[in-house]
Parts: sequence; structure tokens; C-alpha cells
Amino acid sequence: MRPIEIERLGGVVGAAVHGVDLSKPLDDAAFAAILEAWHKHSLLVFHDQRLEPEDHIGFARRFGEIENHVLKANLMPSHPEILLSSNKKKADGKRVGRAYNGEYWHSDGAYLPTPSRASLLYGIEIPIGYGDTMFASTHAAYETLSQPYKDLLNGLTCAHEFHQTYRTNKDRLAEFKVSAEENEYTSSPVTVHPATHTHPETGRRALFVDPSFATGFLELESSESDTLLAFLRDHLTCPAFTYRHRWQPNDLLLWDNRSLVHAAVVDYDDSMPRYLHRVTVKGDPPQR
Ligand SMILES: [Fe+2]
Repeated sequence: MRPIEIERLGGVVGAAVHGVDLSKPLDDAAFAAILEAWHKHSLLVFHDQRLEPEDHIGFARRFGEIENHVLKANLMPSHPEILLSSNKKKADGKRVGRAYNGEYWHSDGAYLPTPSRASLLYGIEIPIGYGDTMFASTHAAYETLSQPYKDLLNGLTCAHEFHQTYRTNKDRLAEFKVSAEENEYTSSPVTVHPATHTHPETGRRALFVDPSFATGFLELESSESDTLLAFLRDHLTCPAFTYRHRWQPNDLLLWDNRSLVHAAVVDYDDSMPRYLHRVTVKGDPPQR
């Protein structure tokens, strides 16, 4: 096997990893090289992988405990570790998986007491040139703030809630009511996180204010909180902090939710079939 090569893709986010076949067992040296690149670039792209569900889940397990998604109706029956993301329909007219999901900037599991450490998304059927995924560095967002803003945010805690992304859009609220019944996900507890956190493996500070799931800062008056949230939603997704991934079939993307927010670009429709598998790895409570 040729040595692992890392090719930087974006200014502050993203690298492609060449020379790795994830369907084969990875030795510790190869895994260490991947982990180092992941810490440095936050998002890794592995092209041209041929992964059975067991391969995908096995690679994810190297990063920690697998977390089954709250959207139970969209899990693969034979492998509930895999969330199906697809706009395809079965013979009964129901979707094969979660369709057109994640089209808002967010970090996976930010609404949980233990937000997701890693997400591993594998593209199987891709409408070429459509359905890109965008990523933005929450480290860059923090580091470019002025010191008074850093000081303010370092003293704040922020509430997050899964319902929030639905509440702010009436079409999505109607969809949520259907989804809640299908998924038995009827409660949406509020989770409070520090507004900034230190990455537990790299020691690098980042914002932890989710652009979609955050509802407000506990220490501020509501008008102050709303204004600061609006500013941060804008700031977090500044073009200079982003990388936009154009999918090819058989790409596996591995990203760090403690360092990034991401958004799906929904510029395709039911005439363009798309089918992906996602596995998520559990994280720890964010710590200042
Ligand atoms: Fe996501």
C-alpha cells in the first residue's frame, strides 16, 4: 500500500486523505496519521471507498462509542448505527431515509448534553454537481473575534434545543409534527452549554453557539441575547471560514463537530436520486 498523503482542500477547513482503503483493517500507525490530520483540518475526505455497513461502522468505532440518531424511523433496520439520508421513495411512497435534511447551519448533536464527537457520512448515490455540503470552522470564528467579545462569550452559557430549527420555519414545523410521531421523539429538552469551549484533544478554543439549535444566552436580557445570536449566526458562517464539498459517489467524509458547523445545500429535487449513510460518534459535554 502506498503511504498516506494529506492534501489540503480549504484555507482553514478540510483535507483529502489519499492512500487509505477503509474496507481493510487500519494499523495503528495509519490510524494515528488520520487522527493527526483530522485534528489539524477538522474535516477529512476519503475518495473512492467501497464500504459495507460493517466497514463504515468499524471505522467509526475507532473514534469512540457509536450514537444512534434520535430520528428512529430513518435508521437502517439491519444496522441501527446507520442513519439513512435519501430522497428516494419505496414502493409504498414513503422515503427510503431522511430527505433534504440538514439544510441549515448546525453541528450534529449540539442539542444533546453530549454533542457528537464525529460524523462519518458516506455518499453512495450522488446527483453529480448537486447537494454539496458546506463546512465552517468554529475555531476561526472564535479566533477572529475582538478580545472584548471573546471575554463576553467566555463568561456566557447558551441554551440549545432540537425543536428550535423547526420552530423558526413553519414548513419545517409541520414536518416536525409528522416526524415526531414517526420517531417517537416528542420531547425536546433544553441543554445548556458554555458559549465557548476548549477542544479536548487539541486544546484549541472554539465558539459553541449552534447557528440553528441555540435559543439564547442565560446571563443576558432577551433583546441582548437575540442580537448577539443574530450576529454570531452571521459571523460563524463568514466565507473565509468555510469549505464547500462537491460530492462524488463513494466519498466518505469524517468531520469533527467540536470544530465545525455544516450545512447541506439543497439545490436538487426528487428527479435526482441521492442516497447516503451516516454514522455518528458520541462526544463529551463541552468544557471551557
Ligand atoms: Fe448534520
